[in-house]
Amino acid sequence: MKLTIIGRDETEKTVEAETGTSVMEAIRDNGFDELLALCGGCCSCATCHVYVDEDFADRLPEMSEDENDLLDSSDHRQANSRLSCQLPVNGELEGLRVTIAPED
Ligand code: FES
Repeated sequence: MKLTIIGRDETEKTVEAETGTSVMEAIRDNGFDELLALCGGCCSCATCHVYVDEDFADRLPEMSEDENDLLDSSDHRQANSRLSCQLPVNGELEGLRVTIAPED
């Protein structure tokens, strides 16, 4: 699916992400090194924090308790905050736009 990523320096890149991977992996694979994703996608670090474009809010998978707790530990949490490793790449999110959140 097509995914648009906006980096911390406002660089915007539209990439083709492979179904079955995660939005975090797509961001890392496309040269956005500022997304640390330290835990490798097992929902225990919160360094893959992104803001999701409001238009996609109701198409996102429900947030787990772990994800919610981790996001609470961020000083930069917003209503549209998600951990990108918990967002699947699939047809439903075609055209998704995410902005990498500031570092905590
Ligand atoms: S990569 Fe660690 S929570 Fe997403």
